[in-house]
Amino acid sequence: MRLEIPNASLASQAVGPMTNAGIMSFAGRGWKDIAVKLTSLRPLGEQAVSPSDSVLGPYADPSGKGLSVSYADLIERAFATRWWRSNLVVKDPGANQTFVPAPSGQLPANEITQLQANFSLFWGLAVQLYEASLVSDQTPVDRFLSGDHSALTKQAVDGMGVFTGKGQCSTCHAGPELTNAATAAVAQSPLTDGTDTGFANLGVRAPSEDVGLGGTDVNGNPLSMAGAPAGAVDGMFKIPGLRNVALTAPYFHNGSAGTLRQVVEFYNRGGNVDAPNKANEIKPLSLNEQEKQDLVAFLEALTDPRVLLQQAPFDHPELLIPHGASGDTTSVATSAPGVAADEYLELPAVGAGGATRIQPFPNNPFLPGFLQALPAGSFQPVTAPAPAAPAPAAPAPAGAGPADTPAPTVSAPATTLKVTPKVRRTRSVATVTASLNVRQGGRLRVRALDGRGRRQLVLLAGSRLGKIVSRHDAYTITARIARAGKVTVRLRIARSQLAHGRTFRILVDTMGRRGAVATARLDAVAP
Ligand code: HEC
Repeated sequence: MRLEIPNASLASQAVGPMTNAGIMSFAGRGWKDIAVKLTSLRPLGEQAVSPSDSVLGPYADPSGKGLSVSYADLIERAFATRWWRSNLVVKDPGANQTFVPAPSGQLPANEITQLQANFSLFWGLAVQLYEASLVSDQTPVDRFLSGDHSALTKQAVDGMGVFTGKGQCSTCHAGPELTNAATAAVAQSPLTDGTDTGFANLGVRAPSEDVGLGGTDVNGNPLSMAGAPAGAVDGMFKIPGLRNVALTAPYFHNGSAGTLRQVVEFYNRGGNVDAPNKANEIKPLSLNEQEKQDLVAFLEALTDPRVLLQQAPFDHPELLIPHGASGDTTSVATSAPGVAADEYLELPAVGAGGATRIQPFPNNPFLPGFLQALPAGSFQPVTAPAPAAPAPAAPAPAGAGPADTPAPTVSAPATTLKVTPKVRRTRSVATVTASLNVRQGGRLRVRALDGRGRRQLVLLAGSRLGKIVSRHDAYTITARIARAGKVTVRLRIARSQLAHGRTFRILVDTMGRRGAVATARLDAVAP
């Protein structure tokens, strides 16, 4: 079956490189190999995941590494059953595949499940939808434009005047995306003056050095959609969006400008080289020193502070970046005879609250707490097995309502908890008081998630579990409860955290020696 999904270039971009031997894959490896491998492994199995990660936190494994759910669990939660649930499996996947009844035991090596056969679909859409949640729309410029006049300095306001006026920047860097190469603009008018909307030749270099949009893809098809006469789109490049541009130097397709000031100087002198199709706006601008500085200040004010500080939704698990092998042009360190030992850099995990300020080029990114070299041999690529499928749902605890299904971290329903909440609020804080019926003594942990169960909420100071009162804002409170009986929980949640609907979710984990062994869940509504 072929599927065409409109405006899903992010999905294509995620799927393509995975099996491309020039980019990410061993030659000859296909999606079925990736699917079989990943469904057998623990997601992020060798990487630290913060328990307060805004997306992964609720699934973070108590061991500190990886998730406590498998890829199959996640796919089954997110996608409609018809894409993964079938009584048939795919035999000899590929051009001559057939569909045969699923065997009762293990699958033979030449058969894969429907979930595995459709893995690239899940992969592409999941990556696309995650990327689409990363919207940098809280820059000082956004706050200024929505009426907060204190958000920008006078210099940045003056710079906006140069951007939209004398500099003519907004002819190309237009709209909220700050580029004409945006879905809305291209859908409205795919062509501009006979060439592709969203592309321009600025005269960064001569087209003979890099023909840009005038080139062809690996199959010989023109990159340009315009069908313009030969040469008409040579040297054109896509107009980039400018949000967070202060963090992404060096600039232009060849990295030829190292700072925003150098970009401004480039535009001010009217580009580097001339070409017949060079854009009309690219000509000497006669900006004075003040105007240049103002323009740079405006571009810097396009930085979303959450990106700078790696705060939600821009938080992330630990990322391990392959960094070649240590050695020189004549010898390298080896891990086995004839095999170079891989070196990795580590970008540490951060939770929703963010962490170290990222260090944009050309500053040294290898600062403590940011990117650091991992000691040789300390990281082995993923080997941890996939977590077992979640245990069948425990009988719903009385009073906990129909939404009470075990949370993803539950593996054995050892204890059940009865939760009856009371919600009260002031202008800024919702206070939930719940009484728990604990069946046996032990350690309990309480968390709150937003209504969709996606984001872990900060519990304000003064939240309480039994006798333990938290003195700091935190994501969880843990307390040891001596014996079976009633325990009171009070959670204080900033109403601003409930921005997308007033619903939220309380999770009470019964902690075993290696993490949560049972979870009671309750969905509640703030009045
Ligand atoms: C004719 C359309 C056009 C105009 C006018 C224009 N730009 Fe650009 N801009 C582009 C294109 C195309 C690129 C990418 C060029 C490349 O990669 O070679 C770009 C790149 C940039 C970049 C680098 C972004 C990156 O991530 O590499 C910045 C910053 C920028 N422009 C700012 C400005 C400013 C400031 C002005 C006004 C002085 C301006 N632009 C005017 C089309 C334009």
